[in-house]
Amino acid sequence: MRKNIVAGNWKMNTTLQDGQALISEIVNMVQDEATGSAVEVVVCPPFPFLSAIGRQLPQGGRFHLGAQNCHQKETGAFTGEVSAKMLQSVGAEYVILGHSERRQYFGEDDELLSQKLKAALAAGLKPIFCVGESLETREADETFNFISKQLKDGLFHLSNEEFDQVVIAYEPIWAIGTGKTATSQQAQEVHAFIREQIARAYDAEAALNTSILYGGSANAQNARELFSQPDVDGGLIGGASLKSRDFTEIIKSF
Ligand code: 13P
Repeated sequence: MRKNIVAGNWKMNTTLQDGQALISEIVNMVQDEATGSAVEVVVCPPFPFLSAIGRQLPQGGRFHLGAQNCHQKETGAFTGEVSAKMLQSVGAEYVILGHSERRQYFGEDDELLSQKLKAALAAGLKPIFCVGESLETREADETFNFISKQLKDGLFHLSNEEFDQVVIAYEPIWAIGTGKTATSQQAQEVHAFIREQIARAYDAEAALNTSILYGGSANAQNARELFSQPDVDGGLIGGASLKSRDFTEIIKSF
């Protein structure tokens, strides 16, 4: 069965010291306060802090380490790049792929993302694959077509076994970092649509077992309402994951 997951995407924020202080507060608060909930927590700090932050996570419990990107090749002369295998070797279990910031600022397209997905899976990482429409697309009433194409071109080339490892994040671009959250109905509608597409591409069981997270200005105030929707299995949190109290409250929202 699918899991409830709250993932924190730190993006390009914090120093090592700030990040260590942040994660230490989060771990303490969650251990003290979130005792009843079965939610898995994935922390995605910047590359240079992965090892150090990973060492601060209690082993064998609800905390897991994730990266924000990986290169599509296994090794080689790619100065400045980081492979999936490297991430796995420092303790990462997850990797965010297809984030709209990577698509927009770094020109990552479906073809490249397909290769990155394969590389991540080959290294034993679980991809958190992001999809989401722009405001323009939403206003043109093209959201479902757009999401369907992102899934088909970027993700549904995977085999059943590979797809089993994938978590999907629905992140409407207009809601990211804007303070403009999707309403719980808007989120539910797209999440249900995504699940339907999975059932078509794979089968009903795969659809039922895939965790689909919402991302975009999710915070301590709106998380409970979002997470109460039947097809919303958690959140991919940006800004609010950098505040220990807010992130803990989001985790406790289940
Ligand atoms: P915000 O929560 O800051 O809107 O960011 C969402 C996001 O992009 C997570 O990947």
